Amino acid sequence: MKITVVGAGAVGASCAEYIAIKDFASEVVILDIKEGYAEGKAMDLMQTASLMGFDTKITGSTNDYAKTADSHIAVITSGIPRKPGMTREELIGINAGIVKTVSSNLLEHSPNVIIIVVSNPMDTMTYLVHKTTGIPKNRIIGMGGALDSARFKYRLAEAMEAPISDIDGMVIGGHSDTGMVPLTSHATRNSIRVSEFLSEERLQQVSDDTKVGGATLTKLLGTSAWYAPGAAVSSMVQAIACDQKKMFPCSTMLDGEYGLKDICIGVPVILGKDGIEKIIDIPLSDAEKAKMKESADGVSKTNGLLEL
Ligand code: 2OP
Repeated sequence: MKITVVGAGAVGASCAEYIAIKDFASEVVILDIKEGYAEGKAMDLMQTASLMGFDTKITGSTNDYAKTADSHIAVITSGIPRKPGMTREELIGINAGIVKTVSSNLLEHSPNVIIIVVSNPMDTMTYLVHKTTGIPKNRIIGMGGALDSARFKYRLAEAMEAPISDIDGMVIGGHSDTGMVPLTSHATRNSIRVSEFLSEERLQQVSDDTKVGGATLTKLLGTSAWYAPGAAVSSMVQAIACDQKKMFPCSTMLDGEYGLKDICIGVPVILGKDGIEKIIDIPLSDAEKAKMKESADGVSKTNGLLEL
């Protein structure tokens, strides 16, 4: 199983590290345009192999896509991250061109590759890959909801002073500071609805904190987060590589599901060897439906900025 990670920055390198440590892939290729950077990250990671106990072979490449040939899965993290005070949508001008070029180069050497998009604004970048490559929609997956759901669970556990392993919860909708839809009505602590433990006001605070989880970290770090994004996308890679049939909220092209068409936005899907194997249409409250519609309107507005 060969995985390519485009972008040797913090997110890409974290993703490669987690994939290697989980040891389900034979090879991970990290590619970056900065001379020697990917090679250096790959070598540094390989020097942890004996310590971390993995046999995955990690190699680096400076913009030579021939070395990514025959990849099963490719993760696109390349592009600029946001700075404090920026929205993800403000990155579209630079990142759209990068994502378009990267996806084309990947497909030239791996015509059957499954592409996972991390670069922001992620839902719009995922939509861009659909419109510019034309590959089957099950092979184009946007990573946002898996990360947002991890932040949601973190905030729920914090609010209930509970172990995170007790918590289940999902965030759907757009991967944006205003467009996320944390499904508080579905969240549970060990199968018990969280509303049994938290007041409506406290749950609202959990939702609000979840939505700005990325911006909160960007303010603290001076740049976008990388550990949780890397961990989230590596879990999706594993679900595909190992055909796990796991459910994740992923940005996927909708054709009527949730009453939406011609848009990529976060909804529950089953990930397996074929990528997105099924879109799960879950029952939403009227309030959740309204938030989803509002979120979709925001993503469509950003999509309108693309020069397709
Ligand atoms: C985040 O929310 C980078 O969009 C990513 O941290």
